[in-house]
Amino acid sequence: MKKYLSIFAVVFLLTISIMYGCGENTVSSDEAADLSSSTSKADTLITVGFSQLGAESDWRSANTNSMLGTFTEENGYSLVYKNGQQKQANQITAIRTFIQQDVDYIVLAPANEDGWESVLSEARDAHIPVIIVDRRVNASDKNLYSCWVGSDFELEAKKVTAWINAYTTKCGVAPEDLHIVNIQGTIGNTAQIGRTRGLANAARDYGWDLMEEVSGDFTEAKAQEVMEALLKRFDNINVVYCENDNEAIGAITALENAGKRVGSNIKSGEVMVVSFDGVNEQALSYAREGKISCIAECNPMHGPRVDALIKALERGEQPDKFNYVDEKIYSSIPDVTAVTVDDKTYTVDKP
Ligand code: AHR
Repeated sequence: MKKYLSIFAVVFLLTISIMYGCGENTVSSDEAADLSSSTSKADTLITVGFSQLGAESDWRSANTNSMLGTFTEENGYSLVYKNGQQKQANQITAIRTFIQQDVDYIVLAPANEDGWESVLSEARDAHIPVIIVDRRVNASDKNLYSCWVGSDFELEAKKVTAWINAYTTKCGVAPEDLHIVNIQGTIGNTAQIGRTRGLANAARDYGWDLMEEVSGDFTEAKAQEVMEALLKRFDNINVVYCENDNEAIGAITALENAGKRVGSNIKSGEVMVVSFDGVNEQALSYAREGKISCIAECNPMHGPRVDALIKALERGEQPDKFNYVDEKIYSSIPDVTAVTVDDKTYTVDKP
């Protein structure tokens, strides 16, 4: 009887989760992951509570899949997965739930940098190691977490801006003739902060005209809306710096709807679009066509990297505090074959 009751309960909860997860595939699968993980926990498995910030982009979906595909029972884990739905408050609640469940490790992909100190102190008081993934947390006490793994977002920006400088210089476009708008990511997280800072510094150093910075929330829809508004305000935009590929797709739609030609030939009136990630298939195909001139890779496949960190901690080792991922730069324009940033040279690969 108990068996039938629990089958009924699981079916009932799945139905509810599907009903309320309308329009967001990842939400309903997240709920399913919550259910399956909580019903299959075994004592021999390492229990991981993973708080993902949301599902704003293709990068994020790839990152979630990498984590869910790594922290499986076959790999020795029992995963409790929570999607924060883009809200830090949800992530804080998730971490408190993980603490109550006494998981072995907490993995946090934080929505933004600030506001984590109290909940991380609670995890430390409960002696649960925390691994931060992707973006960083801004905590004066670095011992509130074991380690971090992710991208050097400002380095990504330096690669893209070095590429813009090399290419436009080669084409004979004067720096002051580059009229740039920045469609930023969601404000207040490491990806946005690093990419925004990288562009602002480059504009100052090279003498570019950085006309406006406005958030597109890392989404295609918001970026399209923001680009439409920018086109109403400025008639001389010739470079659109998008802080991720989803934004680039939205910006290109807005530009083309407004009758603009998108490409790298600024002198002939084309608008150059550059972006970050290199995950979304449409963006990669735009890069192959030359509609996106340059993409700095942001690699989302952090599951195996976090797994390696947990294994090291299990062996009693202390991994490096900050673990950076090596990343590439892509462009199909043959004129620039490599960029040099901080004395290191990066080959420009085909997308
Ligand atoms: O933090 C990584 C960034 O977040 C990715 O570049 C973006 O696409 C995502 O939403």
